[in-house]
Amino acid sequence: MKTVVLAYSGGLDTSVAIPLLRERYGCDRVITVVADVGQPASEIASATERAETLADAHYTLDLKNEFVDDFIVPSIKANGLYEGYVLGTALARPLIAKKIVEIAEAENADALAHGCTGKGNDQLRFEAVFRATDFDLIAPMRDLNLTREWEIDYARDHNIPVTVTREKIWSVDENLWSRSIEGGELEDPYFIPPEEIYGWTAAPENAPKPEIVELMFREGVPVSLNGRTVDGVTLITELNRIGGAHGVGRSDNIEDRVLGLKAREIYEHPAATIILNAHRDLESLVLTRDELRFKSMVDATWAELAYKGLVDEPLYADLCAFIDETQKRVTGSVKVRLYRGSATVIARKSDFALYSEELVSFGESAIDQKDSEGFSKYHGFQARLARRI
Ligand code: ARG
Repeated sequence: MKTVVLAYSGGLDTSVAIPLLRERYGCDRVITVVADVGQPASEIASATERAETLADAHYTLDLKNEFVDDFIVPSIKANGLYEGYVLGTALARPLIAKKIVEIAEAENADALAHGCTGKGNDQLRFEAVFRATDFDLIAPMRDLNLTREWEIDYARDHNIPVTVTREKIWSVDENLWSRSIEGGELEDPYFIPPEEIYGWTAAPENAPKPEIVELMFREGVPVSLNGRTVDGVTLITELNRIGGAHGVGRSDNIEDRVLGLKAREIYEHPAATIILNAHRDLESLVLTRDELRFKSMVDATWAELAYKGLVDEPLYADLCAFIDETQKRVTGSVKVRLYRGSATVIARKSDFALYSEELVSFGESAIDQKDSEGFSKYHGFQARLARRI
């Protein structure tokens, strides 16, 4: 008896993977797992329904709170950007992978499987977790080098309903933090994305009048929206809705995948854009110049690891510990104006502000302006010496 646990999305790849695991890999018990990390409820429902007819056993797990607490929150604290863009898909994969492992342990399984192809990052992210266990690994899509046409025929032969609708031209990955769209005509980086690919954001040119949102942070974590204390899932969901209406958080970038391939990726992440802009601004108010400079390097390395899904690399925990330490003073409020695609910080305050109006203002102050008199002398000497070359 060979039991396998498969990370299941409800899409074509992972659906054909179920009979393939039986026919090509000799698995006689295929257990599927749908991880709810914030996809639309209808998608979770249809994936669950499908899995229940195709698999021998099935689990649908609501991971939204865990996703926020253990992956999105650290990413906020680390200003999580990869190559300048919001990290999205990368944050959810390790969590999903860890849940697959837990279920495999409980079910006494032999193998773990994912439906990723051999070209993307997701195979590596799943396997970063899978390969740290004793379970066998099966990656049928990558292993069998299947084409879409072959998969569609195979699905028909195995009574797997195929819905090749217009939207399915794009490959979409969605979680609470971001929605990623790739593939099809978008693979041509010179192709201008049609409006229809966007699911969360209005076209900025059609956005309504400006709107101001106020976010309150406690130790680096956003805890209230417009004066109302809310849990993380609610806060992010609401900000995606509000920011999305203003066309905030679209990005179109040429991304360097882990394997070394360049890819054209389009993302929507209204809440992430607003929260990260606000968080970064609040840090600039409460952290020292030296902390900010050093933390930006730590953040960049953190993001590299997160992008690769290497959350079990010991350096990841080391960096998180440093970042957590810096967040102790990141408490305060930030106002962000949303308007036609932009999310601009327009006001901020904190009890821990290192800013002093009294010191910086031109009026009477505790600092005598003459105190800075000698400051530039050293630089001047150095510059004169350097000129001798
Ligand atoms: N390239 C992005 C990443 O590695 C997103 C991939 C998501 N998958 C998708 N089918 N859109 O984070």
